[in-house]
Amino acid sequence: MDDRLKHLKEQFIADFSAVKAAEELTALRDKYLGRKSGLLTAERKRIGTIAAEARADFGNQVNQLNNEVEEQLAELGKQFAAQSEAAALARETLDVTLPGTQPPRGHLHPITLLRQKIEDIFVAMGYTVCDGPEIETSFYNFDALNIPPAHPARDSADTFYLSNDLALRSQTSTIQIHAMQRMKPPLRVIAPGRVFRRDTPDPTHNPMFFQVEGLNVDRHITMADLKGTLQQFVQLMFGQGIITRFRPSYFPFTEPSAEVDFQCYICAGEGCRVCKGSGWIELGGSGMVHPNVLQAVGIDAEEYSGFAFGLGIDRMAARMYDIDDIRLLYENDVRFLEQFS
Ligand code: DAH
Repeated sequence: MDDRLKHLKEQFIADFSAVKAAEELTALRDKYLGRKSGLLTAERKRIGTIAAEARADFGNQVNQLNNEVEEQLAELGKQFAAQSEAAALARETLDVTLPGTQPPRGHLHPITLLRQKIEDIFVAMGYTVCDGPEIETSFYNFDALNIPPAHPARDSADTFYLSNDLALRSQTSTIQIHAMQRMKPPLRVIAPGRVFRRDTPDPTHNPMFFQVEGLNVDRHITMADLKGTLQQFVQLMFGQGIITRFRPSYFPFTEPSAEVDFQCYICAGEGCRVCKGSGWIELGGSGMVHPNVLQAVGIDAEEYSGFAFGLGIDRMAARMYDIDDIRLLYENDVRFLEQFS
């Protein structure tokens, strides 16, 4: 072999064995095969200067060395490519079995949860859930409910009027009238909804709050049915064995009328923080539907009688969850609402 080629080959072998990374491989290729100043390229250029008889042999030797160099470079290039692909795969591997990040999940508002529970109890007793408009005429909000023209509840200081005759409903009792216009007795209806009054907000008042109305009209409905129904509701809602009491009251749309309380389910009547020391918790108003109300919707008060009740959902929620300011229920502060999931 030509001495210079032999020397070049040894030099290449030494250089080649020192290569550790792909970039060095590129430099090595340039050093030997680079078009301008590659060492082996220089030898190739030299072929023409070799004496004619030795030229073919020298040319063959150059080609052979060239092929060897190419082969080795290509082989090592493949190794580096495989290594870098394996490294990339290891770096980018996704473990699809790892649990993902759980997005925070919302839940129903405590008032909605309570409303659904109330509905479930009455639906199980055969009641139908009804709805009505939040904007009402005086007929539904007052007249048909036997509320006389001069009654203070009609005052614009108490009710949000939108015009002379239209107002935001101030009680869900309006739905009693809609229900009796839509359905013939016997009817059993439960009607939860928002009501509006011009109250100044404080820990126990808000201009918008939630009530649930109940109405049962049939032949021979008595006060005993009312008491039994509310007693049953209280026991399913707050616990077996909890008793109710009825205090005489007055509402224009019922006669007789009663306020209903139930014994505190925390202290069983002893007096505690939840019942504010009285041993009793107010449930709401109730009574036997006034004959004038039945007549206002064309139901014969001689043939039919009924009972009705109206309960405050927010106040019930405040008691159940020991919330001392009902305004918290309407402020949509997630830090507060999160407690009720
Ligand atoms: N509507 C009354 C109020 O808002 C509550 C009420 C009392 C409803 C007696 C009734 C009832 O149905 O019979 O204060």
